[in-house]
Amino acid sequence: MPLLTRRNLLKASAVAGAYGVGISVAGKFGLAEAAPEPQVLKALKTQATLTDAGATRNIMTWANPGGGAGMPPVLRMTKGKPYAARLTNTLDEPTTIHWHGLRIPNKMDGVPFMTQPYVYTGDSFDYAFTPPDAGTFWYHPHCNTLAQMGQGMTGVIVVEDPADPTFDSEVVLNLRDWRLGGDGQFIASFRPRDAAKTGTYGTVRTANWHQEPQYDAPAGGLIRLRIAVTDVTRIFSLKMEGAEATVIAIDGNPVPKRFPLDLLLIGPGQRLDLAVRMPDAEGAVATLEDIRGTTPKTIAKLRSVGTSLKRDVGDLAALAENPVAKADLSLAQKISVVLSATAENAPVDSICGTLGYSFWAINKVPWPGDTNDPTAPLAELKLGKSYVLQLENVTPHTHPIHLHGMSFTVLSSSTRDVMPLVTDTYLVQPDEKVQLAFVADNLGDWLLHCHIIEHQKTGMTSYVRVV
Ligand code: C2O
Ligand code: CU
Repeated sequence: MPLLTRRNLLKASAVAGAYGVGISVAGKFGLAEAAPEPQVLKALKTQATLTDAGATRNIMTWANPGGGAGMPPVLRMTKGKPYAARLTNTLDEPTTIHWHGLRIPNKMDGVPFMTQPYVYTGDSFDYAFTPPDAGTFWYHPHCNTLAQMGQGMTGVIVVEDPADPTFDSEVVLNLRDWRLGGDGQFIASFRPRDAAKTGTYGTVRTANWHQEPQYDAPAGGLIRLRIAVTDVTRIFSLKMEGAEATVIAIDGNPVPKRFPLDLLLIGPGQRLDLAVRMPDAEGAVATLEDIRGTTPKTIAKLRSVGTSLKRDVGDLAALAENPVAKADLSLAQKISVVLSATAENAPVDSICGTLGYSFWAINKVPWPGDTNDPTAPLAELKLGKSYVLQLENVTPHTHPIHLHGMSFTVLSSSTRDVMPLVTDTYLVQPDEKVQLAFVADNLGDWLLHCHIIEHQKTGMTSYVRVV
C-alpha cells in the first residue's frame, strides 16, 4: 500500500514563505547537476516584529534577493546533488557561513582564519559543495557569533533524500530566543556571571521568529516536524501534548530505533525530526512544549484541518542511513578531551570572537576565539584512521559539544544508556564521560567546541587536524 500522498504545503505564512523559496531553488538546481546557480544569501541588517512592543531594530539576517528580509530562508538541498550559495555581505562587519553538520570540504566550512578569509563588508564568497547526508541541519556565521547569531543569523537547512518516505505535510521549526528589553530592543548580549555558568538566556522565545505560532496540518495525517535548536544558550526538554510524536532522527541522522518523544533534551546546535500523528478531530490542537525549568512553555502548535487521513505511524517506512564510515574500534586511538572550568577569568585578546573573558577550557587550554594561532591542535589525526573521543565533563553544567566536518557514533556513557546515534553534536551532562567514535575521513582543521556560544567564546573551543 503506498503509504502517503505527496507532500502538501502548509498554509501558515511563515512556513509557506520558507517553502516558496526552497521549492524554486530546488526546481532550478534539480536540472543542473554540475554547477548550480548559486543561491544568493545577502547578509544584512534590518528590523523585524518579534514582540508587541513594535519592530526590533538591528536584526541581522540573510535575505534571498526579492525574498524580503525576515527569518533566514530554510535552505533546501538534495543529498548527493551539488549546491552553491553566494554570501554577499552588506553588514557593517565581517562574516562567514558555517554549514553545521554538513560533512563537506574544509575550505567550505566557514571558519574565519582557519578555513577561509573573512568576508568583509561589500565582499562576496562563493560556497559550493555536495551534501553527502540527508536530514535536518542548519547554518550560521562563525565569528562575532554572539552578536550575529544572537541578532538573527541562524537558519535551517533541509537536505532531502528523494527516497525518503513521504509525509502528509512538513513543518520546519527554527527555535531561538532573543535578548530584548521591554521596548523590544536588544539588551546586552550576555552577563559575565552567567557566561561562567549556563550561559545568558534570552528574554523572548520564538519558533520561526514568532511567539507560539500555530500551523495547520491535515487531521489524522503524519507530519514531519523538523526542529532545529539554533539558540545561543537554551537547552530544551521537548514534549508533545495532544498528539503522538515519534522520534525518527536526531542531528540529521535516523535513530537506530524509533521511540516516542518524552522529555528529550536537545541543546544548542542540535536537531530533532519527529513524525507527528495529528489528532483525528478537525480543530484539535497538538502543542510542542519545553518542560525544562518550572513551568511548561508552549513552543508551537499544530492544528488538525479537514477529515482524518487515518494514518498509522507504524506504516511509515524507515529513513535511509547516511553514508557515515564506521570506526574500526579494534584499531581506534583514544583521544582524551576534558571539559573544565578555568580560574583564569582575566580579559584576553583575540583576533576573532572572544568575549574578553576566559571561564572554560578543553584539556586545560582556554581557547580564546576562532583563530588557530597560537594554540596547537588538540590532536593530529591520520586520514582514514579511526578514533574515539573520550569526552569527560568535570563541570556542573551541560555542554553541547560539536565537531565540524565529521560525524561520530555514540558508543557509551558513564551515566546513562545510549543508543549508537550518529551525530555531530553531543550534549554532555555534568560528570558524564562519553565515548564518541569516528573515522578521520575529512582533511583539514576542524573545530571542536561547545555550542553554548558564551562557553565557546570564553575558552571551550579546540580543534583537531586531519592530515
Ligand atoms: Cu554550529 Cu562551530 O558550529
Ligand atoms: Cu558549554
